[in-house]
Amino acid sequence: MTRNLSASAAGRPTTSSDRNATRGSAPATGTSSPVTLSQPDRAGDLLLEIRGLSVDYGIGDNPVHAVDDIDLTIRRGEVVGLAGESGSGKSTLAYAVTRLLRDPGVITAGEAYFYDWPAGSYRDDSQAPAGSTTPDSGAGPRKVDLLSPDRQVLQDVRWSQIAVVFQSALHALNPVLRVGKLLDDVLRAHEKSMSKEQRWARSEELLRMVGISADRLSSYPHQLSGGMRQRVMIALALALRPSLLIMDEPTTALDVVIQREILEELMDLRERLGFSVLFITHDLSLLIEIADTIAVMYAGRLVEKAPARALFRAPRHPYTYGLTTSFPSLHGEKREMTGIAGSPPDLRQVPSGCPFHPRCRWAMDECRTQEPPMLELRDVSGSRQALCWLQDGRHRVPPQLDATPPVAGTEAARPSMRGELPHRRDAVTALGKDRP
Ligand SMILES: Nc1ncnc2c1ncn2[C@@H]1O[C@H](COP(=O)(O)OP(=O)(O)OP(=O)(O)O)[C@@H](O)[C@H]1O
Ligand code: SF4
Ligand SMILES: [Mg+2]
Repeated sequence: MTRNLSASAAGRPTTSSDRNATRGSAPATGTSSPVTLSQPDRAGDLLLEIRGLSVDYGIGDNPVHAVDDIDLTIRRGEVVGLAGESGSGKSTLAYAVTRLLRDPGVITAGEAYFYDWPAGSYRDDSQAPAGSTTPDSGAGPRKVDLLSPDRQVLQDVRWSQIAVVFQSALHALNPVLRVGKLLDDVLRAHEKSMSKEQRWARSEELLRMVGISADRLSSYPHQLSGGMRQRVMIALALALRPSLLIMDEPTTALDVVIQREILEELMDLRERLGFSVLFITHDLSLLIEIADTIAVMYAGRLVEKAPARALFRAPRHPYTYGLTTSFPSLHGEKREMTGIAGSPPDLRQVPSGCPFHPRCRWAMDECRTQEPPMLELRDVSGSRQALCWLQDGRHRVPPQLDATPPVAGTEAARPSMRGELPHRRDAVTALGKDRP
């Protein structure tokens, strides 16, 4: 998708619906960083496609605009990180596309499609369900309208194709059911052809897959540590071999050591099983480790999206830059942590123009009155997007927002956990031990 800067600059959009009207256009060349027309999405790889999604809480005169006109795509096998301060709308976006949004949440605009690819059509479908056939290589996906009024459409893919892991495993797991029963219920509901013995064997396999010994099938959730409960949640989510895993702050409640172990195992599973991940967190530094692409939200908007390392090393949006200066990096040179002054806005009264302007050190007059368009940029890291007037080619870009990112496809551009995992999981489960 591209946008036309000349159209946006001439009739500058001021509202969300105006911004919607500018969609489908392309920007001019920038000053310090090269800005060119981006390539259109390669539709062949798409797994999830969100277009112009808006969600309010409440109706009437003063709703909370929690998600405002968001476009986001996830490809097969891709790990997309969604970052942003508390209250920026990350969970609301995930709830909306999986239709788990509760009252008074209302989807007010947009589209969301899931591409249901035939088993065997991905590079690694070795884990495809027994009996499934490998289709012709040319077989295309079934396009599923996730926002269809017919809720059965979504129910057919939710859990079997799109699984969700939430933050609080203790509250998400039924406390009066043993782990084996929890897994068996999922398999019984969705894999009707499986016998009781097959379901039990699959449950054992799933527990081992997440680093827990099979005898824990007889444990109740309260008998497991926090890390083990979160692993059980992941096992439940992977039970039906989904192609998309949505994880909303799945490790936030855990200490950093356990968090890292679970993430390493998750990335290991992702490498082997080939599913895609939408990983939601406020912790940008964590996303650098695991994500291919990072999208940053602010006040319900998507303000920047780029390859993970490029976004971290060479942000183009002042808010992303602020996030990168809010925590120390484990690697590289020491630098001053400056953070971001001020607080996020009340989403009932979002500031005019660019919603970030009251906190932005580079705010210009037009930022206070004119809402910026989403600009498609291109540099050595590949194509990326930024919702900021500074990057429209008419302004001098400050050096902080004009750094050279790592070149796409090189070692420096790779997420650091990827491909470095010593398959400790196998060693641990071979010994019959639990991961904590
Ligand atoms: N049930 C609700 N009623 C009214 N407003 C709500 C409701 N749930 C969320 N909101 C508001 O919607 C906005 C987005 O909330 P959301 O939970 O999606 O943010 P988030 O980015 O996931 O935050 P966090 O990092 O704290 O989980 C917030 O301003 C929040 O106050
Ligand atoms: S549009 Fe203006 S206020 Fe908004 S982030 Fe860019 S420079 Fe700052
Ligand atoms: Mg949240």
